[in-house]
Amino acid sequence: HAQSETPLTIKPAGDQMVSKHIYGHFSEHLGRCIYDGFWVDENSTIPNKGRIRLDIVDALKKIKVPNLRWPGGCFADEYHWRDGIGPRNQRPKMVNTNWGGVTEDNSFGTHEFLDLCQTLDCEPYIAGNVGSGTVEEMAKWVEYLNFDGVSPMTAIRSQNGREKPWKVSFWGVGNESWGCGGNMTPAYYSDLYRRYATYARNYPGAPLKRIASGANSDDYNWTETCMKNIGNQMWGLTLHYYTIPTGNWGKKGSATKFDEAQYFSTMKNCLKMEELVTKHSAIMDKYDPKKKVALVVDEWGIWTDVEPGTNPGFLYQQNSLRDALIAGTTLNIFNNHSDRVKVANLAQTINVLQALILTEKDKMILTPTYHVFDLYKVHQDARYLPIAFTSPDYTVGDQKIPALNVSASQDASGAIHISLVNLDPNKKIALSTVLDGLKWSSVTGQILTSAKLTDVNTFSDSDKVHNAKFTGAKKSGNSLKVELPAQSVVVLELK
Ligand code: AHR
Repeated sequence: HAQSETPLTIKPAGDQMVSKHIYGHFSEHLGRCIYDGFWVDENSTIPNKGRIRLDIVDALKKIKVPNLRWPGGCFADEYHWRDGIGPRNQRPKMVNTNWGGVTEDNSFGTHEFLDLCQTLDCEPYIAGNVGSGTVEEMAKWVEYLNFDGVSPMTAIRSQNGREKPWKVSFWGVGNESWGCGGNMTPAYYSDLYRRYATYARNYPGAPLKRIASGANSDDYNWTETCMKNIGNQMWGLTLHYYTIPTGNWGKKGSATKFDEAQYFSTMKNCLKMEELVTKHSAIMDKYDPKKKVALVVDEWGIWTDVEPGTNPGFLYQQNSLRDALIAGTTLNIFNNHSDRVKVANLAQTINVLQALILTEKDKMILTPTYHVFDLYKVHQDARYLPIAFTSPDYTVGDQKIPALNVSASQDASGAIHISLVNLDPNKKIALSTVLDGLKWSSVTGQILTSAKLTDVNTFSDSDKVHNAKFTGAKKSGNSLKVELPAQSVVVLELK
């Protein structure tokens, strides 16, 4: 008998754009993200330019990384930038107390990070130290980075080989100030923010986008207090939320060994992002109805137990088809909230948490999550298209979540892109889509799926989970018919 179809309506574009910065990434001095990730040893035989790994650069350029956040994370509030400039053999060492207690030799510092951003053709997003640094230290860092003229800091900058300022724009005023960034209350942080943000100056031609350290997950009081006290002095306010498979930080669950019940709870926890973004945005709307302040979700992703046998402080985890479904779903949520969410950063780029890339000596693999960013790059800076539909349920026992999530945009050439995720591992979804007042005559697509939710790419089987041509969409009269396979991410292009 006839399979029931889920109706979808896609409306014509308004003024809302999907900022490319929603597709940002995060690289902390943590585990093997920088060292043994981006940055290779001096005498390494791995192809590199000034110690930056070139295979990684090529892969990240392909997905058009728009911005990179650095140096943390928790690390940022113990980082003293002056230790990371000047001749490398004279740089002091420090202990990375947050991440494994390893010795940080400061060989990767300000110049190295900004060279990396230049090579990747992306914008830097620097998090300044509020937790253990001084107002003066932050003020001088901004002068060093952004002032074009004669000054004490620019003299040191040119001694270190850089004449012109970099003009860094995204500027984090602390990180997780409610936790590793100083264990503050929101009222105390708001007062500190005023001081740090005042002296982090706008130099000519280099205005800062000051980003206040925002809430942990559903700490709505933090957002409320910051918006009330300093909402008129910030460009953006952050939100951090991680998907924990079990919901228990003590025993988070494995990255590769999970059953359907744990998959279900993981996806339920992932979908909480929708509720968080909606509720934090509603608070921001009260104080900022014109939506001038951005919600900056600068840490998100799945956080599992580390791979057995690896350093627990290094947060190294594998990446499965499940992670790809999380990435597709979360990016759809951000696109659909692009009136308020202007920046987001997946944690973290290489070898840490929900990584895009894993490395082992000279080998490198692209994870299923990487492939989702490759598919979704078409939404960057495209015009948002609103969608209406009622999702079928994905049911396990007596619990259910929406099986389907979707977002759509139209790029400058007029091409329409629709990204669809079917979270249900057992059932395909038949869709019938009407595009209100939008012109198109042909449809093509790509799909990411695999036989098992636990499928991963490994160093011996690096292409098990990959993007492929999708043939399940066709034009039928005025409507678009799609057969969306179980556990898949599909991106369609309509021209
Ligand atoms: O991404 C790992 C850590 O998670 C970051 O350092 C911190 O900001 C968050 O708690």
